[in-house]
Amino acid sequence: MAPQGPIGVFDSGIGGLSVLRALLAELPHERFVYLADNAHAPYGERSHDFVLARSRAVRRQLVDEHGIQALVIACNTATAAAVHMLRAESPRLPIVGIEPALKPAVARTRTGHIGVLATRGTLESGKFQALRQSLGDTVRVTQIACDGLADAIEKEAAGAHWAGATALIEQYVGALGPLGGAPGQIDTLVLGCTHYPLAAAQFDASLAGRAVTLIDPAHAVARRTAAVLAARPAPDPSPHALPGGARVRLLASGGPSALHAAARRWL
Ligand code: DGL
Repeated sequence: MAPQGPIGVFDSGIGGLSVLRALLAELPHERFVYLADNAHAPYGERSHDFVLARSRAVRRQLVDEHGIQALVIACNTATAAAVHMLRAESPRLPIVGIEPALKPAVARTRTGHIGVLATRGTLESGKFQALRQSLGDTVRVTQIACDGLADAIEKEAAGAHWAGATALIEQYVGALGPLGGAPGQIDTLVLGCTHYPLAAAQFDASLAGRAVTLIDPAHAVARRTAAVLAARPAPDPSPHALPGGARVRLLASGGPSALHAAARRWL
């Protein structure tokens, strides 16, 4: 039997490492190729057509050059813009996407009011609007497009100084309105961009002890990927090693130094 290829994972930059971290734990026998499309980041304030074109180009590179067995779109913005099209164009390639975890948040909230922080591209997409409408009137949803935040995290995550990201997090968390467990307050906050969990400590600091649960769907995406792979006929249980035995190969369209620094810190 031919050995299975690696699982391809991509994002506009380092954010998808929050998903890769969960994938590594969930799928200990698989190999991964992670592509940060940082020459074209951030995606969140670009047009739908631009993000779709980049997602197609990345899929092509991962399939043609790395022979991936499955693709995980570790980016909410790219999932919203491209997952339907990529699946239609590559019906034999299992593709798993990520979207803001509204349903887990609805299951979790006690106050009936949830907050969603995501990129403008995600929140303005038809996919997100359909997801939000599917909730009906069961909960109140307050959403904020966090312009510039993924970019600030991308630039600051590898270093010790988070001044830009911290200021934006305080601004956007403040814009949500009253937070906490009292009636009407937001008690559940969805991190709807894969960059944001890398700044979990900064979000915690901005919440200043208020009773708010942060929701990150990375583990749900990893479990979904495992389920999709398990459902395929006769997967090879013994993956062949990359040169040097690496489980993860890191690629970056705009230069690898930020990605490597972030991977050392987060993986
Ligand atoms: N991390 C990505 C997401 O989940 C994209 C951030 C960006 O490039 O703006 O949406």
